[in-house]
Amino acid sequence: MPIEITKAEETSTPPQKPEQSISSSDFIPTEEKLRFKDVVGLDEAKQLLKRTVGMSLTHKDEYEHYGKERKLGLLLYGPPGSGKTFIAKALAGEFAIPIIIANIAELISEYVGETAKNIAAIFKQVNDTAKENGKGCILFFDEFDAIARKRSGRAEGEAAALRSALDTLLTEMDGVSQRNEDTFIIAATNMPWELDAAVKRAGRFEDMLYIGLPKLSDRRKLLKKELARASKDVVSVWTWRVARATYGWSNADLKKLCDDSKAFAMERKIAGKSGKITTGLMVWLASRTKTAGNIEWFAQAKDTLKNMGDADQVYAPLKKESESLTDFQEVKSFIRIFSLYIF
Ligand SMILES: Nc1ncnc2c1ncn2[C@@H]1O[C@H](COP(=O)(O)OP(=O)(O)O)[C@@H](O)[C@H]1O
Ligand SMILES: [Mg+2]
Repeated sequence: MPIEITKAEETSTPPQKPEQSISSSDFIPTEEKLRFKDVVGLDEAKQLLKRTVGMSLTHKDEYEHYGKERKLGLLLYGPPGSGKTFIAKALAGEFAIPIIIANIAELISEYVGETAKNIAAIFKQVNDTAKENGKGCILFFDEFDAIARKRSGRAEGEAAALRSALDTLLTEMDGVSQRNEDTFIIAATNMPWELDAAVKRAGRFEDMLYIGLPKLSDRRKLLKKELARASKDVVSVWTWRVARATYGWSNADLKKLCDDSKAFAMERKIAGKSGKITTGLMVWLASRTKTAGNIEWFAQAKDTLKNMGDADQVYAPLKKESESLTDFQEVKSFIRIFSLYIF
């Protein structure tokens, strides 16, 4: 009889695929080699990360001494390619704390109960890692909006699955702070305004940190850093000029520009021509490259903030940057041409 009951239950429950379930050992903490010195610019972000995350994980005694509550989570936001993932990794490296990078898409499963299991597994792994090394562990959720988005405008089934995934995640987060585990959770997103209000509640991701575009001097530093990887005899670049011609570009865009320039020069060298990476080549490539992605992102951000009323206060740094950027958009093409001929 009991066998029959089990069978009846089995047929009425949705398919289960335990072999697809993620076990906690699937999340391997990485010992990051990156340091803050590898991160160009973003000085304020570095300071804040040092003060909040670094100190709370490395000076636990002090926190106890002063009866100061530790922060649990921090939300990084900003345009794509600005260095959110990069700085999170550098933070882990700087304080020699392991970091577990969670891929949201992998955590969400179509099978009932699997998502919750996956999320529980990752939190368990983070806590085990923290206990093992005695210092703590950073859990990083990239593309956080994939799980924490407001669910309006979604198919009902999908919305319900996401809702339960997010609820599980928030419950796990609350558990971490109740048990006072040495875990710090960082989430990154390009669309912070899309996040569910429950995510930004006190004790969760109440602090938001803007990771913006590099200013002129930082663009120059990044170009120098990327070009320094090439042998000196093939580089003849006035980085200041290239930095001028790349107003509004992200760090990732600049890195790609360097890479494209290297590829171009290399091909010419292989074809028997001069294979130098020159200022002219870089500015020419820059003027042909479409990096409108950032401008679009800022325009969209500006629109979103406009409709938010007072709530946009938390986005003050983004607002400031988006205003200067989009106002500048009209003269942007002019500047590119200008920098081609004047210098
Ligand atoms: N501040 C920075 N300093 C040096 N390199 C950077 C910086 N920001 C981004 N990069 C480079 O650009 C790449 C993409 O950045 P990433 O952190 O993935 O951007 P995001 O997560 O904000 O979309 C990085 O792997 C890194 O090589
Ligand atoms: Mg990223």
